[in-house]
Amino acid sequence: MCVGGGVGTAVVYPIAQALARRGVKVTSVIGGRSKEWVICEDELRACGDVVVCTDDGSYGRPGFVTEALKELCEAGGIDQVFAVGPVPMMRACSELTRPFAIKTTVSLNSIMIDGTGMCGGCRVSIAGKTEYACCDGPEFDGHQVDFRQLADRLNTYREFEQVALERWTTSHSAASAEAH
Ligand code: FES
Repeated sequence: MCVGGGVGTAVVYPIAQALARRGVKVTSVIGGRSKEWVICEDELRACGDVVVCTDDGSYGRPGFVTEALKELCEAGGIDQVFAVGPVPMMRACSELTRPFAIKTTVSLNSIMIDGTGMCGGCRVSIAGKTEYACCDGPEFDGHQVDFRQLADRLNTYREFEQVALERWTTSHSAASAEAH
């Protein structure tokens, strides 16, 4: 089972493709806020069944990917789940599969700076042990990830990001006003 949320769908696509090539039966559950945010649907259909979900119900089944995943877990027959998307989604998928004892692999998008294992920016806690997403991952066992710590660390630079975005928006609007 490959579960993709938003741009995470592009990350599960090569996984689905590799599994399908090995003869594994793949079902993908993909979602986005609305129809225009759903990506890689055709590519994933070439790998197996696809369930599309949209938060606003503008395409596929209305609701989150986790709701569809829950039903499929209850139906049984899933050996492994790969879930990639926003942290709350990967966390919810991991919590959902835990009682079913379905191995769940997530791809962590912690902040990366040097990407070599030296700066420590991407550190995550896996089963209580510090790991570096850039060189030890980014795939980890979702049932062992400290998602709360990951979410906190992703917010570290939120204020700076907001200021940078406002500066960029202001300068971009001024530049396009001049161009017109
Ligand atoms: S990005 Fe610096 S240690 Fe991973």
